[in-house]
Amino acid sequence: MRIDIITVLPEMLDSPLNYSIVKRAKEKGFAEIHVHNLRDYSTDKHRRVDDYSFSKGAGMVMAVQPIENAIESLKKERAYDEIIYTTPDGKLFDQKEANILSLKTNIIILCGHYKGIDQRVRDLLITRELSIGDYVLTGGELAAAVITDSVVRLLPGVLSDETSALSDSFQDNLLSPPVYTRPAVYKGLKVPEILLSGNDKLIDDWKYQQAVERTKKLRPDLYKKFTGETD
Ligand code: ADE
Repeated sequence: MRIDIITVLPEMLDSPLNYSIVKRAKEKGFAEIHVHNLRDYSTDKHRRVDDYSFSKGAGMVMAVQPIENAIESLKKERAYDEIIYTTPDGKLFDQKEANILSLKTNIIILCGHYKGIDQRVRDLLITRELSIGDYVLTGGELAAAVITDSVVRLLPGVLSDETSALSDSFQDNLLSPPVYTRPAVYKGLKVPEILLSGNDKLIDDWKYQQAVERTKKLRPDLYKKFTGETD
């Protein structure tokens, strides 16, 4: 899978996408991630990418020209399955969305900034608008990093069997069960007896039960989805 990220702050993406599983996925050739500086596509002599809003007092808006140039120049090289815009008013990103994106071949993620992008970019060029939560970030870079990280770890071969994404929280609308390591007793708190039993079937049943109970208690909204009460 190839992910092209368009941003005014490429440096912000250096760190989050160069460690751990994402780094390994790139090294092993499962994922290609390219970060593009939007300013490189500006025809303005000062490399400006924003302009004043037509609505008074609404702050600066990212202009059509550099974004269109950036997207069109990428599209000339290959076909893209999705052109995503990260924005707080987008659809809430979740594990289901990550699963869908992990099946794509080439995607572009455009990071929002300032007071947003010219609506005509959204109308004409963007195929998916995603928010990572109901709060406002300084820009879309962290959102792009979150989306990329969660998608890349789902690509076949990236995770080992042991860390398989199938057992992640949210995959069945269930949170993960609690986990323990040594020591078996810590400050008087014992690891649940069943985990020391060596009986895989009983342990699996217990883990499932714990996942269901945790979800019911901590995330009643998710629990409803799990039981099929809502979509
Ligand atoms: N840009 C600013 N805030 C954002 C959010 N919550 N999700 C995605 N992009 C954003």
